[in-house]
Amino acid sequence: MRESKKAVCVALVGMGWAGEMHAKAYNHVYGVDVRRKIVCGLEKSLPEFAGRYCFEEYTRSFDDVLADDEIDVVDLATPPFLHREMMIRAMRAGKDVICEKPLTGYFGEPEDAKPIGRVSKKKMLDSVREAVNDIEAVMRETGRRLFYCENWVYAPAFQRACELMRQKGSTIVQMDSIAGHKGSPAAYVKYWEKSGGGVLSRNLIHPLSTAVYAKRVEMESRGLKYGGVWSISCDCAQIMKGIENRYIEADPMDTEDWAHVVLTFADGTKATLTSGDTFVGESVTTFDMYGNDAVFKCRFSQCDMLDLYFADERGIENAYFVEKSDSNAGHHRAIVSEEIIRGYYGEIQDFMECIRDDREPLAGFELAKEVTELVQLAYFSAEQNRTILLNRK
Ligand SMILES: NC(=O)c1ccc[n+]([C@@H]2O[C@H](COP(=O)([O-])OP(=O)(O)OC[C@H]3O[C@@H](n4cnc5c(N)ncnc54)[C@H](O)[C@@H]3O)[C@@H](O)[C@H]2O)c1
Repeated sequence: MRESKKAVCVALVGMGWAGEMHAKAYNHVYGVDVRRKIVCGLEKSLPEFAGRYCFEEYTRSFDDVLADDEIDVVDLATPPFLHREMMIRAMRAGKDVICEKPLTGYFGEPEDAKPIGRVSKKKMLDSVREAVNDIEAVMRETGRRLFYCENWVYAPAFQRACELMRQKGSTIVQMDSIAGHKGSPAAYVKYWEKSGGGVLSRNLIHPLSTAVYAKRVEMESRGLKYGGVWSISCDCAQIMKGIENRYIEADPMDTEDWAHVVLTFADGTKATLTSGDTFVGESVTTFDMYGNDAVFKCRFSQCDMLDLYFADERGIENAYFVEKSDSNAGHHRAIVSEEIIRGYYGEIQDFMECIRDDREPLAGFELAKEVTELVQLAYFSAEQNRTILLNRK
């Protein structure tokens, strides 16, 4: 355990949507003294961001973050193509790493024809396996740890469901989930070489991670060994290309805007997971677990805490009710305290306690590694148009 008086010294890298959620979360950590030392980002508004979230310093250079001996942990809320290099450099500089999803992906090699989304998915799978092995090797060599930002795992509704599932001793037999949006405002997401894929690696990764986590927790709580995923089948598509889309922000170049995955776990449990940039109206984020004696239905965005109706948008044009809503007029089931309900406060709280107490997080390298592999296997399945059987003993 760390000396209880020493603060955990944090550097946040990235100040987009994810960076802002993390910055808010650091302000709400309790029981751990957190020092917000540096924020690093490229936007003009960096000084204002640093002031708003109480960072002592700001910089536009990642090298400055690495050179700061006081930093204990570097929080990467940067685009996916930067994760691998940044996390390896941070660990080699003696820092633990918090990394947003996805851990990593395939971002192209010099010989690839452009756009790289058409590269063979077997090549992508092999290359990503190598990248994950590199990260693992550096973790081992440096003794540094990785905390994986899968906020769905930390959503209070899901954690409460897991707690009750353990208490009841239920066996999960089926999981169904939707992670649906109408695109992303982040500029990089349309290019495979920046994002490592489309909605599968960007959004479907949330239910995928949550299903893997849930099955592991369920089996371990019943004293059984988690046997992993035995088969995966995936269908990916680019649906919106060529369709008039006034209300959808997606403009994929070589990435998919719709994906559906079926997982079969070692014990036969099925998970059906769907994601798309095709969900006009507002975001849909549901995760349902059907057990042998119970049902758990988790909702991570809309809920019934605040039901609204506005006859028109006058005065509330810029109000935020729920992510990616088309209009503020009409009926809304507003999200209240999104940072809490969607798990962002929970993940940062857990990571800070882990550093203070030297314990493992709910979402760490093991989960990130398994899910990164499954994402690549899903792309491979979609390309091959067949179910991929995993050779497990
Ligand atoms: N968990 C979630 O709900 C969630 C939601 C959105 C994004 N994300 C993840 O968060 C990450 C960032 O996504 P985003 O949507 O916030 O992206 P974004 O494009 O809005 O923000 C990226 C940030 O990284 C900074 N950056 C880029 N290159 C940099 C460099 N070389 N040095 C320093 N800073 C640099 C940019 O200045 C920007 O502030 C991605 O991995 C994404 O998958 C997670």
